[in-house]
Amino acid sequence: MTTSIRTKTDPLDSTDPQVLDYMLVPHRNFNLINGVHSPDEVDQIQNWEIRDSDIFAVTYPKSGTIWMQQILTLIEAKGDVTPNTEHLNAQRVPWIELIGSEKEFNATPSPRLRVTHLQYKFMPLAIRQKRGKVIYVARNPKDVLVSYYHFHKYAAMLETPKDFNDFFEKFMEGKVFGNCWFEHIKTWYANRDNMNFLYITYEEMIKDLRSMVERMCRFLGKDLTEEQMASVVEHSTFRTMKQNPQANYKTVPDSLLDHNKGTFMRKGTIGDWKNHFTVAQSERFNSVFREKMRDLPLSFAWDIYDVTSVT
Ligand code: PPS
Repeated sequence: MTTSIRTKTDPLDSTDPQVLDYMLVPHRNFNLINGVHSPDEVDQIQNWEIRDSDIFAVTYPKSGTIWMQQILTLIEAKGDVTPNTEHLNAQRVPWIELIGSEKEFNATPSPRLRVTHLQYKFMPLAIRQKRGKVIYVARNPKDVLVSYYHFHKYAAMLETPKDFNDFFEKFMEGKVFGNCWFEHIKTWYANRDNMNFLYITYEEMIKDLRSMVERMCRFLGKDLTEEQMASVVEHSTFRTMKQNPQANYKTVPDSLLDHNKGTFMRKGTIGDWKNHFTVAQSERFNSVFREKMRDLPLSFAWDIYDVTSVT
């Protein structure tokens, strides 16, 4: 790790710019964020009691987490938007790895909807006995890298990159929260048969959101009417979510997300990496991708034209 560890216990509350770049804390070959995660609490997650009705959306950062938070709550509410306008996405579908989440998890009535960026090895062991359901959302890693780069520029809990090249190197080396993208997807995907598991991609959701919501409903055993389905889809589009303050983190204080430096609902498309990567970076990335993904039967759309018909 090149990053050092600060001793401050809760930098999230800090207004001092000197302590606002949170430090990554290496823990069991995974980087946690000081003040946001506690290694001891993360280690306890394995022992959590899981109900069959629990639903976990799993993402590497910047792969569609907030989108899943939105869709899952809408499906659960059968298209009723009330919960989506009253509470932040992160409150409706919290992260399991945040400090204090176990108590809240135990106290929540079913169905419990949760998200996580954690690797498979940290998850409750009960999911390996097919308790609960897991939806893994993957996004093409070049766009993940770009989205994550922009996020690092305005998220107080992450170190501000010197420039794109600096962040590119950190991402390739896994020196970010979430660690190595390849490791994340490989370990989750390799264990898919142990769990009630659905794999979907961000790009499939861009291509045909409705079909993907239908697929999620089938997996979750939810039967929605035509009207309910239409509402779920309408309120999960990028355009609608960008206008909904509870779904776009606009209400999060500047001390956490500096809204002058960026926006959570940024572009929401496929292929923005082309505006950032040099040819050399792209070629290097392709070669790493080919090598690391060679045993995985997974492919990605790398361009918006890969999922839209050009007339
Ligand atoms: S985080 O910080 O890990 O929780 O971020 P995450 O929510 O996983 O990813 C944020 C990116 O997802 C895009 N997004 C969407 N794209 C299309 N449609 C919808 N509805 C949608 N909701 C979120 C968001 O714009 C971020 O991607 P970029 O490329 O930065 O725009």
